[in-house]
Amino acid sequence: MAARERLRVLQVAAEIFPWVKTGGLGDVIAALPPALARAGADVRLLLPGYPPLLDALQDWRVTAQLGSAFGAATVELRRGRLPGLDLPVYLIDAPYLYDRPGNPYLTPERADWPDNPRRFGLLGWLAAHLGCGDVDRLWHADVVHAHDWHAGLACAHLALHPGPRPAGVFTVHNLAFVGEFEPLQLAELQLPRSTFAPEGLEFHGKGSFMKAGLYYADQLTTVSPTYAQEIQTSAFGCGFEGLLMRRAPVLAGILNGVDNAVWNPASDPHLEARYDSGNLAGKSQVKAALQRSLGLRADPRALLVGMVTRLAYQKGVDLLVQSMRRLAGEGVQLALLGSGDPQIERDLARLAGELPDAVSVSFGYDDALSHRIIAGADVVAVPSRYEPCGLTQLYGLRYGTLPVVHSVGGLADTVVDASETNLQADRATGFVFVNATEAALHAALHRAQRLFADGPRWQQVMRRAMAQDFSWDEAAGRYVELYGRVTERLSR
Ligand code: ADP
Ligand code: GLC
Repeated sequence: MAARERLRVLQVAAEIFPWVKTGGLGDVIAALPPALARAGADVRLLLPGYPPLLDALQDWRVTAQLGSAFGAATVELRRGRLPGLDLPVYLIDAPYLYDRPGNPYLTPERADWPDNPRRFGLLGWLAAHLGCGDVDRLWHADVVHAHDWHAGLACAHLALHPGPRPAGVFTVHNLAFVGEFEPLQLAELQLPRSTFAPEGLEFHGKGSFMKAGLYYADQLTTVSPTYAQEIQTSAFGCGFEGLLMRRAPVLAGILNGVDNAVWNPASDPHLEARYDSGNLAGKSQVKAALQRSLGLRADPRALLVGMVTRLAYQKGVDLLVQSMRRLAGEGVQLALLGSGDPQIERDLARLAGELPDAVSVSFGYDDALSHRIIAGADVVAVPSRYEPCGLTQLYGLRYGTLPVVHSVGGLADTVVDASETNLQADRATGFVFVNATEAALHAALHRAQRLFADGPRWQQVMRRAMAQDFSWDEAAGRYVELYGRVTERLSR
């Protein structure tokens, strides 16, 4: 590729905020591609055609009619634009596969759709062909960047492609979701039998989309430097640690950023009042309004703990539930928004029933409330057992809502503990604890409560937190550098 040509990058994923989002992946896919475009790349996006996306697509035309494929009678590729996103977007219009109730992966009863291998198999297959220039005669990619297991097969199809091809970059957002399929499905996923091997996409006797990404990609990344190290160990590697150790020379950790247009206390439309580090009065107003609207005791001196999360074992919500029983007696309050595991929902509902003035729990997905909690709380709890990057602690930092985090993955990389030394050096931005136990979380929240009682010191830490800059432009710069290295390696 000539140096002056723009690098052509196809981003492939299953979510994008605000249309389809179950977690941080949606935020990343809304923010990283525009940042790459600002860094000079010719970036395009490929996503499954979920109804909210098809409805939002503007100025679109049909790029290719693919007929029947992957169990769908008709598959069509559309190219257009999504409002607010200044780059070309391809959507796979296959209503039989993507027009479903529930979330992008699960039925309304929270079971995996049984045909998920086909639904995301089509995504990976089409990504590879689009990248290679077989689908849109006017465009091909230098890099196909696939995110998480949903897009993992793209890397296998690319590696198997005869002749010149784009580089396959695979980003792990969460190693625990392996995207399993039966070996009998290889043919319908357009994969040769030879791929079903330990040196291939086999994983414990099944096929795995995640393994395909990890094994076949030319370059691997994950969303924080610490998680990149952790996944090479048996404690965090989900059984892939051997492969990841071997692939360590092509594995990089690049931290996610914060989208300033969406998460900014000075311009956030969801808040009753706006504020910044030079004028924190608005934050107290937001806290008071939040306490009022959630039915919590209106008390500016009560430490208000916020948490916005998928309700999954990963997130350590159970540790907070236990801890709150003790802390509520000490005047601490909790505002939690989450959805997911029904058992965790039941435990939270019971806690809220026991402590109605001190604990508010809201179930479901609510973007506006998520902003009001991140802004109105004094601390944001992220007691995750593992956390590849984590975004709510970054949002908390931006909003002067000090993160209380378990020292793992991206949490360890982004929060500086308020130890006496760090406080004195004006480095502290939150509270970090080392073991994922109720006792350790409790001790960290207790430390937060003590510092909170010391107004001037608390404000100093808030200002330090708000001054942190986790910019997508910095992350995009690193990805562009890495794309350059991998395309060069491939062309040799
Ligand atoms: P993960 O991707 O593992 O769920 P992250 O911290 O990276 O964790 O990202 C979670 C994202 O999803 C954040 O933007 C957070 O605000 C949002 N979120 C999680 N649960 C909810 C919810 N119930 N309602 C609204 N937003 C939510
Ligand atoms: C995953 C991870 C989370 C990360 C997000 C975006 O869902 O669990 O830690 O922030 O992806 O990369």
